[in-house]
Amino acid sequence: MKRICSLAESLLAAHWKLGDEMDKKDLRIHEVARAETLSSQCYTDKEFFEKEQKLIFENHWQYVGPASFLQKSGDQFPLSIAGQPILLVLDGDEIRAFYNVCKHRGGPLATCKKNNKVLKCEYHGWVYRLDGSLRGVPHFRHAELFNPSDFGLTEIAVTIWQGLIFVNLSADPDSGQDVFQTIEDRIKPLKIADLQFHKRVSYNIACNWKAYADNYLEGYHIPHVHPELCDLLSFQDYKTELTDHYSLQYSPFRDKENLYSQDGGAAFYFFLFPNIMLNLLPGRLQMNSIEALSEQSCRVHFDYFYDDITSQQAQKKITEDMAYSDRVQKEDMEICEWVQKGLQSNAYERGRFSPEMEEAVHHFQVMLKKVYKKIPFNS
Ligand code: FES
Ligand SMILES: [Fe+2]
Repeated sequence: MKRICSLAESLLAAHWKLGDEMDKKDLRIHEVARAETLSSQCYTDKEFFEKEQKLIFENHWQYVGPASFLQKSGDQFPLSIAGQPILLVLDGDEIRAFYNVCKHRGGPLATCKKNNKVLKCEYHGWVYRLDGSLRGVPHFRHAELFNPSDFGLTEIAVTIWQGLIFVNLSADPDSGQDVFQTIEDRIKPLKIADLQFHKRVSYNIACNWKAYADNYLEGYHIPHVHPELCDLLSFQDYKTELTDHYSLQYSPFRDKENLYSQDGGAAFYFFLFPNIMLNLLPGRLQMNSIEALSEQSCRVHFDYFYDDITSQQAQKKITEDMAYSDRVQKEDMEICEWVQKGLQSNAYERGRFSPEMEEAVHHFQVMLKKVYKKIPFNS
């Protein structure tokens, strides 16, 4: 009888539509042992995705790349955050970020990486200083009531932590320093700033960004999706730590020589809400970020950093490390794309968590629910 009731409830819930007020039951927060996973609509609905872009990605620090992306004053680097066109600029020795949007008629200041003493719009040639103020406006002598100081570029917040660039689109961002400090304390004596950037590799995946994050946040799938990882990591000793600032999955290496370790050591997998991952192994950092492209697609960037990128021995190790990560990533991509099809199917509405193995997924979904509570679905 209970089973029939819960099936009926599921079918009713499947009729929940955006535009109606989001069912408060969907956003109730329970302990992992009794919590349900997020509703499948959170992974498949276009309108929901658009609200997430505003509330989640425009309100949290976003990792954009290593400071070494910008080397000389005047370097300009266009990118996209939460679907918004952004431009990183090196102004003297200060990294700035602006919307990559000219105040004349919305043209781009840079469509590819370049260097120039000024920021020059690629549409009609308005010229801005590297600090974003408007300097020159061709053919505007006869314009009336036009004050160039009203037409500076819109600047956004930037912070540099351990040689990594983060931007925040919010008008009133927090400093982000609390999060960074707790990570620094947790990984001591390791220092991210001691590592050098090697390469970025990006992958397009046909799944909602949260399906990729959920998958990252648990080791439950490792024996099934990545059996080869079980040889490397001590799966029984896999631990999860949850804090207000991050979740951390932690696993010692098996006691044998391998690509990453000759004398033990550990792998740290930090997840910073909503979409940043720091994968730290001895002598190497892989900084991953998920770019949400649509309700059913995302792009994941892998930035590789190493303590040595020049010696012959290091280069051999880097090649092996990147090939290994690529294999694991392709296994994750394949399963995430299958999961997206499952979430979109008639057969799935919501599931449950393993209290032993999916605490970090639950932690992530609780943080999401706290943000979703702010979504004005009736507006
Ligand atoms: S849109 Fe930039 S100069 Fe016209
Ligand atoms: Fe995986």
